[in-house]
Amino acid sequence: MFTLPPLPFAEGALAPVISANTLGFHYGKHHKAYVDNLNNLVKGTEFESATLESIIKATAGKPDKAGMFNNAAQVWNHTFYWNCLKSGGGGKPSGKIADMIDSDLGGYDKFKADFAQTCITQFGSGWGWLVAEGGTLKLVKTPNAETPLTKGQTALLTIDVWEHAYYLDYQNRRPDHVNAVIDKLLNWDFAAQNLAKA
Ligand code: FE2
Repeated sequence: MFTLPPLPFAEGALAPVISANTLGFHYGKHHKAYVDNLNNLVKGTEFESATLESIIKATAGKPDKAGMFNNAAQVWNHTFYWNCLKSGGGGKPSGKIADMIDSDLGGYDKFKADFAQTCITQFGSGWGWLVAEGGTLKLVKTPNAETPLTKGQTALLTIDVWEHAYYLDYQNRRPDHVNAVIDKLLNWDFAAQNLAKA
């Protein structure tokens, strides 16, 4: 059985950028529903005792397994996303990841503008990502539940741009939400840990 992992912070910790109300619905309803759906879908199948990562990789791109892929990938993406956020985060990183942003993405200011644009231009539901691929940093976006995990990329940071991530606080103003997350919440320590494993 898959379980909903605990949030790495209190539900009110990210306010006012992300309110406790948004966190309560996003984590307690949406993320939980993906976990519950996945448990129902794997019951009695070959995936019943498989790891989350192996289910995602085995079902990606298979139309007859779309339900299982979508729920498994959304469980993984959300657990990853919570770790990408912290109170007092955001702004310019330091260390190796900062050097790579300079060499691969044109410096922090350009990274910031391009990451925001990547998130804003994901049409409909999806995710904006900072990833490492082949020793290089890249900005990518994925629709719906799709995840860098199945694309040979190591996820470093993500921003959820499904409307459920921001609509209660920002309504249709996705750009305001994305820029506030980049400026105030991104957890660069988590990104550095992920880069070290890439
Ligand atoms: Fe979400």
